[in-house]
Amino acid sequence: MVEIKDLLDKVHLSDALSFLRSMPTESVNSVITSPPYFGQRDYGSDKQIGLEIHPDDYIKALVEVFREARRVLKKDGTFWLNIGDNYVGATSQHREGGSQGKTSRYSRKHMNGIPTDGRGDRNRTFYAMGLPMKSLVGMPWRVAFALQSDGWILRCDIIWHRPSTAESVKDRPTHAHEYIFMFSKNQRYYYDRKHMLTPTGANIQSVWKVAGSPFTGAHFAVFPTELIEPIVLASSPEDGVVLDPFAGSGTVGVVCRQHQRHYVLCDVNPDIVQLAQTRVIQGITANDKKRLTEKRIVALPVPAEKPEIKKIVPEPLPFPF
Ligand SMILES: C[S@@+](CC[C@H](N)C(=O)[O-])C[C@H]1O[C@@H](n2cnc3c(N)ncnc32)[C@H](O)[C@@H]1O
Repeated sequence: MVEIKDLLDKVHLSDALSFLRSMPTESVNSVITSPPYFGQRDYGSDKQIGLEIHPDDYIKALVEVFREARRVLKKDGTFWLNIGDNYVGATSQHREGGSQGKTSRYSRKHMNGIPTDGRGDRNRTFYAMGLPMKSLVGMPWRVAFALQSDGWILRCDIIWHRPSTAESVKDRPTHAHEYIFMFSKNQRYYYDRKHMLTPTGANIQSVWKVAGSPFTGAHFAVFPTELIEPIVLASSPEDGVVLDPFAGSGTVGVVCRQHQRHYVLCDVNPDIVQLAQTRVIQGITANDKKRLTEKRIVALPVPAEKPEIKKIVPEPLPFPF
């Protein structure tokens, strides 16, 4: 098994489960991640999670990955899971009958965009479960309950309120939130509360309104740096290690570099790994660059092998980015 120091401050190309299995026990301070949502995107890999036909298989795959993450987490570590819901029959998150990203240049080139296969089968599975067309699936809670059953302590369900959400639906309220579940491995855990206070010194509440500045260079759900910043700070000390096994564009790495935390990132798609490497080291958006220069990033050296830089052309994204 490799040593944790060999894995630090890199974006690794692997499926999450194999990568976690190769990691040393009790070696990271926190896990902060956003896995693919069920049936929403084809990330172009046989080993991807999210395109299972039955929701139970999706949940099982996530439980297996996060069981391994629990082994890798230090005894006083925490795990923060961002996950959103969707409706039976919807081709994009929230939006029934919508489409998202399938025709974008990035999506066509680097991933397969909206999955075209399996949608009918997935819907039939939902009907068999008693969920007709237009039902809200409740997937975040299904996953959270499964993780509880597997041994995680669920400490908080944070509502990420996304105020800029727009939907064309007229027969229900606009769905404008996702969840961030906070789990711990044990009853006592590292939690630097000063990063979870309001400007008046009160304890932060469980509804977080973050419009953020989403990175628009990739056609998959990206969490804003502002959303995860307090989590990175409260869940790891300086020089601590934060793991994101579904790294996407590497948002966790950008925030870690700014705050002198080490990051360990992993993603199954080679083009996305390259995108994340470039973004974490150089920044791609003005917001990334500001973050990375603000602290002059002296604590963590740029890895010796510089990634080949591809020009990433940001495009305006269809909802919900
Ligand atoms: C929702 S995105 C993560 C976005 C990320 N939070 C960000 O801010 O950019 C999910 C990522 O998981 C990756 N992925 C899918 N299946 C995977 C697997 N089995 N192992 C590792 N990564 C996987 C996809 O390639 C995608 O980049």
